[in-house]
Amino acid sequence: MARLGGSSVLGVDHRPLVASVSEGRADPLGEQRLSEQLARRLAERIGDRGPIPVSEYVEACLYDPSGGFYMRDGGGRAGGRSGHFLTAPEVGPLFGAVLARAIDSWWRELGEPEQFAVIDWGAGPGTLARSLLAAEPACAAAGALRLVLVELSPAQRALHPGQPTPSNRSNASARLDASALSNRSAPSSRSDVSARLDMSALSSLPFRSNWPDQPTKLSSSGCQPPVSVAAVSDALPGALAQLAPAGVVLANELLDNLPFDIARRTADGWEELRVTVGDQPGRFALVAVPAPDELVAALPPQLEAGARVPVQRAARRWVAEAHLLLAEGRIVAFDYGASTAALAGRSGPPSDDDPGAGLGWLRTHRDHRGGVSWLTHPGSCDITVDLALDQVQADHRAAVCDQAEFLRAHGIDDLVAAAREAWSARSRVGDLDALKARSRVSEAEALLDPDGMGGFRVLNWTVGG
Ligand SMILES: C[S@@+](CC[C@H](N)C(=O)[O-])C[C@H]1O[C@@H](n2cnc3c(N)ncnc32)[C@H](O)[C@@H]1O
Repeated sequence: MARLGGSSVLGVDHRPLVASVSEGRADPLGEQRLSEQLARRLAERIGDRGPIPVSEYVEACLYDPSGGFYMRDGGGRAGGRSGHFLTAPEVGPLFGAVLARAIDSWWRELGEPEQFAVIDWGAGPGTLARSLLAAEPACAAAGALRLVLVELSPAQRALHPGQPTPSNRSNASARLDASALSNRSAPSSRSDVSARLDMSALSSLPFRSNWPDQPTKLSSSGCQPPVSVAAVSDALPGALAQLAPAGVVLANELLDNLPFDIARRTADGWEELRVTVGDQPGRFALVAVPAPDELVAALPPQLEAGARVPVQRAARRWVAEAHLLLAEGRIVAFDYGASTAALAGRSGPPSDDDPGAGLGWLRTHRDHRGGVSWLTHPGSCDITVDLALDQVQADHRAAVCDQAEFLRAHGIDDLVAAAREAWSARSRVGDLDALKARSRVSEAEALLDPDGMGGFRVLNWTVGG
């Protein structure tokens, strides 16, 4: 099981796998119109240039500036109970509390440097950051924590802790205002993935001097102790690379959301599946073309003819970029995944009415349900892939373990034992602390479930040292 898209966990109702573009959203007609416009633009592109790579189609579906799933106004609420799916930080604050312990252990491992960057890449609405801060890690108490949220979607960035709201706008200038950075060079078109990941053009920014001398109090959002929070676009990483901090790059369920291509094994080689127009407006189909050598170079050759596998070059590039960012520390990615060969075994034949069906490693999410066709109504659902663990480690090998194992190694059992005690001491009172303790116990069940989030993979790269 991947990102929780439909289950009874923590109050998210399971509903039948029937999807409609309009159901359950605040502005269904607006969403439908955006989807139709995006479908028209994609069809025009295909009319001009012929079938497009799947990565280009997925990039548009997720990140097109006006119609992409994460870029629409409603994209700000993509995750969470009111959104379309649950990630580990959205289950509740426990995941962030355990990560705060892990972060302290990595900070100590490096000798407690005076400045320690924690870069949450693909931060979504900033839920993990809120939980991390609420857990009050020692590196924050020591004034060392520099928390940076890197998020592509303006709708999501607007929800980050420390972002100006109408009530606190007058204090906003005291904060690290990284939106000014993002305006300077964020590419207007997101069609070229490499343009997003190579931000070297920004290396001239005086980023170092942008850390406030005095850490900013984020009391309005309840974040204590004081830390600096930058809610930024993808424009920041080049500037960060110049800083080359000691620290940690975190990526929770980011890599599965980076655009991917699809290769199909034939008796004597590989084909690439590309996206073409379908039989009706708003519907797309797949067509096979000869695969360029560079597309399939990293794929295992010994797969059965007919197997369809994801090619994850953007995720591989992300790993390489993240390694350039830090002088020393860790890169830690949490995601669902398996080897390319195992993913090949999850692919079956397409169905007559859905050419994109049968890809057991591709998941869609909408309204906490899966099974939405990703080749219909572009932009209307999340599209995610199981991570091909061999491909993302092709250049840098990671230490890999299960999420449950990682959480146990960093003290989840202690936190849950303390919560159980608090619950039994206060359950009769039934106050907020008692309820928080009770909720922590059920969060742990979801996070450790071996058939759910506990079975996710944690890839842990050590940089420098
Ligand atoms: C599934 S969400 C995960 C959000 C959050 N990490 C969580 O666990 O709830 C993936 C997020 O990554 C963002 N994203 C995708 N590509 C990105 C990139 N190249 N740089 C920064 N953010 C990106 C998306 O906009 C989306 O908010």
